[in-house]
Amino acid sequence: MKEASLKRKEQIPAATGKLGVLIPGIGGAVSTTFIAGVELVRKGMAFPTGSLTQLGTIRLGKRFERRSPKIKDFVPLASLDDLVFGGWDLYEANGYEAAMFARVLNREHLDPVKEFLSGIVPMKAVFDRRFVRNLDGKYIKEGENLRAHVDALKDDIRRFKAENGVERCVMIWCGSTEVYLQPEEIHQSVDALQKAIGANDPRIPPSMLYAVAALESDIPFINGAPNLTVDIPAMIELASRKNLPIAGKDFKTGQTLMKTILAPGLKTRMLGLEGWYSTNILGNRDGLVLDDKDSFKTKEESKLSVLEHILQPHLYPSLYKNYYHKVTINYYPPRGDNKEGWDCIDIFGWLGYPMQIKVDFQCRDSILAAPLILDLVLFMDFARRVGMSGIQEWLSFYFKSPMYKENLYPEHDLFIQSMKLKNTLRYLMGEEQITHFGLDYYMNDAQKGA
Ligand SMILES: NC(=O)c1ccc[n+]([C@@H]2O[C@H](COP(=O)([O-])OP(=O)(O)OC[C@H]3O[C@@H](n4cnc5c(N)ncnc54)[C@H](O)[C@@H]3O)[C@@H](O)[C@H]2O)c1
Repeated sequence: MKEASLKRKEQIPAATGKLGVLIPGIGGAVSTTFIAGVELVRKGMAFPTGSLTQLGTIRLGKRFERRSPKIKDFVPLASLDDLVFGGWDLYEANGYEAAMFARVLNREHLDPVKEFLSGIVPMKAVFDRRFVRNLDGKYIKEGENLRAHVDALKDDIRRFKAENGVERCVMIWCGSTEVYLQPEEIHQSVDALQKAIGANDPRIPPSMLYAVAALESDIPFINGAPNLTVDIPAMIELASRKNLPIAGKDFKTGQTLMKTILAPGLKTRMLGLEGWYSTNILGNRDGLVLDDKDSFKTKEESKLSVLEHILQPHLYPSLYKNYYHKVTINYYPPRGDNKEGWDCIDIFGWLGYPMQIKVDFQCRDSILAAPLILDLVLFMDFARRVGMSGIQEWLSFYFKSPMYKENLYPEHDLFIQSMKLKNTLRYLMGEEQITHFGLDYYMNDAQKGA
């Protein structure tokens, strides 16, 4: 990110006009729950619980100043009324049919927005079954040529913008988790990636084609799944060349959210960890996809990394060097989207005495993910107007596997992530960063000057 090109305070362009939200995977549980929820909020029929941009406040200045505006009043974010939705799926169902299939929201919430949701018709997907083996939708674009697929997606975007009178767009991947991939030489630079696309290289998954189409169309890209997608040098370079923000990956919702709340607390108190056993049962389409071992591997990597970075065993070997960490997800259809995640945590305290913590989180996956999509879309559109390009580490708050700059390490602690986010907003709006130092309240003027 080029510091000089950043706009701050009144230089930041206002969020005028319509903002297009382009969603690969628009027929999924998360997408339809998000879209239906935004429309219900716009109609005044629901409350945006879980959304920091809509409900959160931000403290400014010293505590005695008592200035805590709402984030959305402090930062020029797009209004919910200006959001327009479009996207792709490999199933033709419209937004209403897809939401009914997902079984997340009940009739009480879907009936009032039936007409609106029915009007959201997916565009044909770019899909390759080698990367998501457990789905077999037929509503997909023809042709084997990867470049032609990128161009077709770009045509879709142009048409969507023209038909909806949209000024700016953000793309957010809410499609399925693809099989596990590791970065290879074709992912190392824009040139290598473009050559590989031109040569129909079989190692390029659809999510990367969507991301290229977005960035080439001057649209920021967010990755809600654990897929590699934009977490490769080529995409970081492309985003930087186009001066566009990218963010990812994998929405931080149920079990990992709990983990990144609990683990920092244990570490702060210097309590040791013997083992952390996490298991889940899940019955939605996401659960079906994750029943394939290679898609699960992508998810597993994403879920496993958090503890290591929070607990820092290299700094605290006697507390965290040898803990056992296991994560499983079992597909169990009766539960649908209502995932149950169990955590059995074996800790030890003073003189090594063992203790146990059990967490049984009976959550609703898409209910937790929907507000994150809203926040990410609004913040990424803001980042674009500010001129922030490349990885948006300040949005780590929202991800299980936050992308980070080479030679750094990802920040997983939810509370540090929240401070990072808010301090970024303070900086951009010309307010002082808050350090929570506090001793200055108790010092006299001479001590402060010393
Ligand atoms: N719900 C959560 O809490 C949560 C948390 C973190 C990450 N995620 C990720 O978000 C994604 C969506 O989750 P979900 O529960 O809505 O899953 P879902 O299976 O209901 O929806 C995914 C949709 O993507 C579509 N799709 C797959 N490949 C596509 C492609 N190439 N182009 C267009 N559409 C494509 C599928 O047809 C499906 O409709 C998954 O990758 C999931 O792992 C979800």
